[in-house]
Amino acid sequence: MSDLELRARERDAADPLAAVRARFVLDEAVYLDGNSLGALPAAVPGRMEDVVRRQWGSLRIRSWDESGWWTAPERIGDRIAPLVGAAPGQIVVGDSTSVNVFKALVAAVRLARGTAGAEGGRDEIVVDATTFPTDGYIAGSAARMTGCTLRPVAPAEVPDALGDRTAAVLLNHVDYRTGRLHDLPGLTAAVHAAGAVAVWDLCHSAGALPVGLDEHGVDLAVGCTYKYLNGGPGSPAYLYVRRELQDRFDSPLPGWNSHAEPFGMRADYEPAAGAPRGRVGTPDILSMLALEAALEVWDGVSVDAVRAKSLALTDFFLECVAAYAPEGAVESLTPAAHAERGSQVALRCPDAGEVMKRLIASGVVGDYRPPDVLRFGFTPLYVGFADAERAARILADTLS
Ligand SMILES: Cc1ncc(COP(=O)(O)O)c(C=O)c1O
Repeated sequence: MSDLELRARERDAADPLAAVRARFVLDEAVYLDGNSLGALPAAVPGRMEDVVRRQWGSLRIRSWDESGWWTAPERIGDRIAPLVGAAPGQIVVGDSTSVNVFKALVAAVRLARGTAGAEGGRDEIVVDATTFPTDGYIAGSAARMTGCTLRPVAPAEVPDALGDRTAAVLLNHVDYRTGRLHDLPGLTAAVHAAGAVAVWDLCHSAGALPVGLDEHGVDLAVGCTYKYLNGGPGSPAYLYVRRELQDRFDSPLPGWNSHAEPFGMRADYEPAAGAPRGRVGTPDILSMLALEAALEVWDGVSVDAVRAKSLALTDFFLECVAAYAPEGAVESLTPAAHAERGSQVALRCPDAGEVMKRLIASGVVGDYRPPDVLRFGFTPLYVGFADAERAARILADTLS
């Protein structure tokens, strides 16, 4: 056994999160794609059996009250809240991330303009130029709808791009391709100093590292639940609206579910108070309740412990890759500095698509992003140090 294999064993034996792995359904593959689709939590199948057979099959319509379906979006939002550093009452679960980006960004422009409206001069939306495509497309559409100009800017250059024309800024906490962690506190403060409103996309950070939404005064945030929150394919996303902004949050999608009196069936729209104002239509209950069961894996687990293990795992994986891979075969795009690293390692190499296919066939599941990036997501709840060592060893074999 090599020195690295030995060290991996020792670290797994000393890992305070090691027992959490048993809360997931896993097989012999090394699963490093939790930054795309989290593994299945063991509690989910049984819960879904009950939701489908008893709550839907027997109780039917009564379940909206008796099984707590109606209040699920805010109840599950409050379950996510401590994972992203939010006090209760500010997060609603539902719709996709894309839809929530749209709600948040248009509402952000309206918030920034306040009573001055478009005449107030704030006519620019700044967007992360390296963003996940959906955010860029939606920002473009939101700009057209609100009479703004879209300004794509690299995150590091955002502070210089801000000014009294900036209405809203849409940023990613962690870059989906490189795994780079952006400075949420500093960038939020810069956006506020310019009098603009910040919207953060937390898809690649929530559940992997501390976010501190309340602490850092974030205005609006969105995120998905199928990556590090393990909610399942297409599980609903969430929207955070800071408490002090809720009364002024003017949704561009004011559906009946966000009405102050949803069953009043009134022709005029009067928005609900609080987090429900972010709702649109009937919640996707089956996916939502699968997510609720999935979130039980967090019982007794702190985000700080997850972050500590995430950094240790990605450090160790990079060390193993450096030790095993042929010289110059891969180049890491993931920052070496902990303060700039999310929970994934992105390696650039020629023929990355083919390399990933061969890796998956050999039992190491990551993913490929064009044109030349291998992504390896480290979910500390179920990935261990022996997994990291094995993945690096098989990657090196694949490359040579
Ligand atoms: C950073 C980021 N934003 C937005 C999305 C889109 O999410 P959805 O497909 O749930 O709308 C993704 C999906 O992977 C993402 O990674």
